[in-house]
Amino acid sequence: MHSRIAGTGRYLPATVLTNDDLARRGVDTSDDWVRARTGIRQRHVAADEESTSDLALAASREALRAAGLAPPDVDLIIVATTTPDMIFPSTACILQDKLGAHGGPAFDVQAVCSGFVYALAIADGMVRTGAVRNALVVGAEIYSRILDWNDRKTCVLFGDGAGAVVLLPSDQPGILATRLYADGSHRGMLCVPGQVRNGKVAGHPFVQMDGQAVFKFAVRVLAEAADDALAACAMPRDAIDWLIPHQANLRIMDSTAKRLGIAHERVVVTVDRHANTSAASIPLALDEAVRDGRVRAGQHLMLLGVGGGFTWGSALLRWT
Ligand code: UT7
Repeated sequence: MHSRIAGTGRYLPATVLTNDDLARRGVDTSDDWVRARTGIRQRHVAADEESTSDLALAASREALRAAGLAPPDVDLIIVATTTPDMIFPSTACILQDKLGAHGGPAFDVQAVCSGFVYALAIADGMVRTGAVRNALVVGAEIYSRILDWNDRKTCVLFGDGAGAVVLLPSDQPGILATRLYADGSHRGMLCVPGQVRNGKVAGHPFVQMDGQAVFKFAVRVLAEAADDALAACAMPRDAIDWLIPHQANLRIMDSTAKRLGIAHERVVVTVDRHANTSAASIPLALDEAVRDGRVRAGQHLMLLGVGGGFTWGSALLRWT
């Protein structure tokens, strides 16, 4: 038994902030600087009344519709998020209730920007072994609430959004290989080191990052993770039809593609329109490429995630 992605969906909040909007609001930056360094033009920001599970719900409904699965028939739910609705219960349990599904396993995965690849790998294993009948895998984030809007080095980089996929069992392999990695010794490179302690926020509750160190690390490990998944399937690099990397920064994506010898035209890029949405970025990009017809049956897709922890990983798919 194998698993395959049978449907995808996405949701971006209605409010859009361009780079110029940020400059007008007092961030000491410019559209030229942000575009040149990152490729980002704008980001979406959730409304006050929206929670991460609301974003996840909208993306999930689209993915379920595309897969032809009724929300109450969802079995496993995994939400990859670093910005959950609350400390507990998990956003996945809240999403399950909002979908009207009951009884199947539901939990969150916290692997920051690699969260979607981690969640997909776990769900693939559970579908393949028959532990669950199907799986809804979601990446959903509201980073705008963990950004220091006075820190221009970080606040221009992130945005809010959600993407989702539905996995069904299949006799033909859809997910060919997944590879997951972590190295906690780099945990200080990108983090939100705050916590709630005795009813108060203790420590720094906003994203902090060593941008240049993250850049170098990401390019190296993303290419390695892609090669590892290809090696597991004895496939060459030129078998990749679409590279769908974590959408953090256009320069990181271009450098990774160059290392892998993949042409720019075969990289799916959405970061320009929604900035870095952490665990949501890969399913957002995947959904766009599926819905606009770029991704076709029989093609090979390489999904690549990297993020705080540090965590990273790859998923090699054959689209069915
Ligand atoms: O999921 C992973 C998420 N992380 C990432 O994707 C980040 C990876 N890193 C990067 O993409 C880049 O390191 C950044 C885009 C974050 C920064 O680019 P950089 O070329 O490494 O710039 P820098 O940090 O070396 O800063 C260069 C200059 C500095 O000014 P001085 O000291 O040279 O006068 C910064 O203060 O750019 C300044 N700067 C800005 N200027 C305008 C930093 N942020 C901004 C800004 N607008 N938003």
